[in-house]
Amino acid sequence: MKKVMIIVLFLTGLMVGQKRELKNVKVLPFKTKRELVSYMKTVVAPELGVKCNFCHNLTDYSSDEKDHKKVARKMMTMVNTANKTMNELNFHEISCWVCHQGNNHPEHPPKKK
Ligand code: HEC
Ligand code: HEC
Repeated sequence: MKKVMIIVLFLTGLMVGQKRELKNVKVLPFKTKRELVSYMKTVVAPELGVKCNFCHNLTDYSSDEKDHKKVARKMMTMVNTANKTMNELNFHEISCWVCHQGNNHPEHPPKKK
């Protein structure tokens, strides 16, 4: 019984620890900071051709003070929604690259008539 209690307390401790590790993550599915930062470094920053400070106050990554971060969060929601459809169709998932291709502001010329 004591052992069970210790394990339960240990697991609860881990879960609380992870919650604190990521303070203001509302859309991305990552459970650990390591996974989230890896996504930022390998997908978000290079696919938009920007550095972390384009979206973040580097002294507090959880802050939403930059508008680019707020736009990016909505873009992430859009990509998640698109990928539900892509999965239903058995197609490859998309990422920011599909539109951005290394630009923070993708070209989108008017439709040809
Ligand atoms: C284009 C904008 C953008 C860029 C560039 C970017 N991030 Fe992020 N980052 C976000 C958004 C949006 C979130 C919140 C996602 C959510 O709410 O699910 C986030 C969340 C985070 C968090 C979690 C902070 C918390 O709330 O605890 C960390 C850490 C982080 N980013 C690190 C980085 C690092 C390191 C880089 C550079 C390699 C980087 N980010 C580049 C948009 C960006
Ligand atoms: C379906 C296409 C598409 C996808 C996918 C997409 N974006 Fe965008 N994004 C755009 C377009 C188009 C704009 C420019 C909107 C305008 O000005 O008309 C934009 C603008 C932005 C901006 C504002 C840039 C600025 O200079 O103000 C950010 C930040 C951004 N996107 C982040 C992301 C991130 C992060 C992802 C991946 C999670 C992503 N986007 C995926 C189409 C897309």
